[in-house]
Amino acid sequence: MSKVPPIILNNGVEMPQLGFGVWQVPDAEAETAVATALEAGYRSIDTAAVYGNEEGTGRAIADSGVPREDLFVTTKLWNSDQGYDSTLRGFDTSLSKLGLDYVDLYLIHWPAPAHGRYVDTYKAFEKLLADGRVRAIGVSNFLPDHLEHLMAETSVVPAVNQIELHPHLQQHTAREYHAERGIATEAWSPLGSGKGILEIPAIVAIARKHGRTAAQVVLRWHLQLGNIVIPKSVTPSRIEENIDVFGFTLDAEDLAAISALNEDRRLGSHPADVN
Ligand SMILES: NC(=O)c1ccc[n+]([C@@H]2O[C@H](COP(=O)([O-])OP(=O)(O)OC[C@H]3O[C@@H](n4cnc5c(N)ncnc54)[C@H](OP(=O)(O)O)[C@@H]3O)[C@@H](O)[C@H]2O)c1
Repeated sequence: MSKVPPIILNNGVEMPQLGFGVWQVPDAEAETAVATALEAGYRSIDTAAVYGNEEGTGRAIADSGVPREDLFVTTKLWNSDQGYDSTLRGFDTSLSKLGLDYVDLYLIHWPAPAHGRYVDTYKAFEKLLADGRVRAIGVSNFLPDHLEHLMAETSVVPAVNQIELHPHLQQHTAREYHAERGIATEAWSPLGSGKGILEIPAIVAIARKHGRTAAQVVLRWHLQLGNIVIPKSVTPSRIEENIDVFGFTLDAEDLAAISALNEDRRLGSHPADVN
């Protein structure tokens, strides 16, 4: 079984560098998918209130027999729950659906700038952190401008910013901004949602050279850059394949070939537009 190395977050908490994402997995299937992932050796699970599968995720965790302290569970507050009091209520709901008494990482899902509530939301996150109900707090889909405003108004530097990141959207500016401030970069849709990226000839050629799959090469590229990754799959063989990425190394030529694929092209929404 592969051992996933940790990233040390800015408050000293260890987060596995590779975890399991469950976006678009219906609640009934999440239980099986998360159970398969835990069996395969994943110890970090990424869900969100809006995914509607915190209950299935929680059932799989409860039934797994894996000690709670060996797991790293992330969930996210949805946009309509932003605001101080509504955040505290939203957190209670997520925790109860997960069947847990704390989460490891709590993220603001989108800045939703038109509502102007992410600073108040984050102040509630700081209270959850101070109360020991979350081990680390962070954000998702925040642009550097949003982070700048947030950090001017609050005291805890976000531990993580989870953003869309894959070979067609390499996020150089954001990654550099995060690195300078001790914020870990977590890549969502690390495989480009399985569309297109895995057929790019340069990636297929690197996979052939190493006797690996295209998905493994893309995940390895993220890991060697220092990104946290959370690939999603409901296919048992892929769940295993995606964590079996610690037995080979991409060389400088491979990394350069993947770097050259950046097109600054998003698959998902622009953070300024989601409210
Ligand atoms: N914060 C945010 O706003 C945000 C937004 C999007 C996603 N996320 C998080 O990021 C996670 C991952 O992103 P994602 O689900 O969009 O995309 P992804 O992990 O990049 O790709 C998942 C897709 O690729 C396929 N796939 C997985 N492994 C494969 C392999 N080894 N070979 C071929 N195809 C493979 C999956 O198919 P099957 O499942 O059919 O096997 C699925 O269709 C999400 O689950 C979620 O936790 C966060």
